Amino acid sequence: ANGVFTYDPGFMATASCESKITYIDGGQGILLHRGYPIDQLAENADYIELCFLLLNGELPTPAQRDKFENTIRRHTMVHEQLTQFFKGFRRDAHPMAVMCGVVGALSAFYHEAMDISDAYHREVSAHRLIAKMPTIAAMCYKYSIGQPFVYPRNDLSYSENFLHMMFATPCEEYKVNPIFAKAMDRIFMLHADHEQNASTSTVRLAGSTGANPFACIAAGIAALWGPAHGGANEAVLNMLDEIGDDSEENIQRFVDKAKDKKDPFKLMGFGHRVYRNFDPRAKVMKKTCDEVLQELGMADDPQLKIAKRLEEIALEDDYFKERKLYPNVDFYSGIILKAIGIPTNMFTAIFALSRTIGWISHWNEMISNDYKIGRPRQLYTGAPQRDYPAK
Ligand code: SDX
Repeated sequence: ANGVFTYDPGFMATASCESKITYIDGGQGILLHRGYPIDQLAENADYIELCFLLLNGELPTPAQRDKFENTIRRHTMVHEQLTQFFKGFRRDAHPMAVMCGVVGALSAFYHEAMDISDAYHREVSAHRLIAKMPTIAAMCYKYSIGQPFVYPRNDLSYSENFLHMMFATPCEEYKVNPIFAKAMDRIFMLHADHEQNASTSTVRLAGSTGANPFACIAAGIAALWGPAHGGANEAVLNMLDEIGDDSEENIQRFVDKAKDKKDPFKLMGFGHRVYRNFDPRAKVMKKTCDEVLQELGMADDPQLKIAKRLEEIALEDDYFKERKLYPNVDFYSGIILKAIGIPTNMFTAIFALSRTIGWISHWNEMISNDYKIGRPRQLYTGAPQRDYPAK
């Protein structure tokens, strides 16, 4: 017990670290960011406000918010020489491969970030990462389709700017649809942080060696890429395409395939290492999905119909009920991103963009306090000690 929440001794023994940033109760389906429930934040705040909260521990005053937002805005451009890095990649490289390389390369531009003991340099690195990730993500997309990079604009909000950099061209301005901007901001918020997930733990382990923040975030991007983690949103859309239509027999076939132990197939967007109840983010994501598609007159979108029917059937299925498998954050996000016009190979890059604030907040929390190098131990199950055979 830490005076806030009570943990059973068994849990305490397995915890890898202490943190004040995010609390998850997997059994109850609770997610708090600095004590605030995710559904209340999604309803009342925006991503910039959530970034301030995760990084600093309290919601910003209006003046603090304006100052923070303005600071982020003035870091959105990347060093012009960084654009050369993109030219080394094949056009058909996966955006996550490019993002991983380019973000790691930021270490080559901001040498003062190597001094991680300096709180001011840590704060500047955090601001640079929050500001530049949308620019880098959009550049990954533009490079993959052979279009010129589009500079950020200081008159747009964080999510408007991202959509502008994704879809504007030098020949034509992109008129940001406010519904898309709001949905994009909501997606950024719902992916912002999630306690010690695989990619955040990777960032903390890398950070515990004293590595610079850009190298640590690049390590987090690499870990997030896997289909069992951040790659799931792209995999959900591919799965819905494969199901084809919302006929009972088509959907039941996939549910049965996901239960077949001989088949490694898992129902993408379902299950979670911690939640044994609904992922609270999935509930907000489903509501946002309905709102966006309703506004666009796409309420009967075929993939949404398949997703909703799949959810109903799986939640009724004994195999899923016994294992407490529910939709997670990735189940509906891809449908919203697709409705906005974002290609599936950019979905995980957008997850990485969103999660950067979580990664850098955990990194900063660890580096600002006493920390030791991470050194997980193992159970050795190999050969007993033996001598080298005499020649
Ligand atoms: C994210 O950690 C985080 O917080 C991650 C994340 C974040 O914000 O950072 O929330 C983001 O990564 C969400 C998860 C996205 N991944 C997917 O949607 C991929 C599909 N899901 C599965 O790969 C799986 O559910 C995992 C990887 C998420 C969890 O896998 P586990 O640890 O094996 O799940 P478990 O121990 O709870 O499984 C219990 C049982 C097992 O069967 P049995 O051995 O008991 O017979 O349920 C089965 C699993 O095989 N199972 C599934 C399943 N997920 C688990 N069976 C079919 N379909 C699934 N999706």
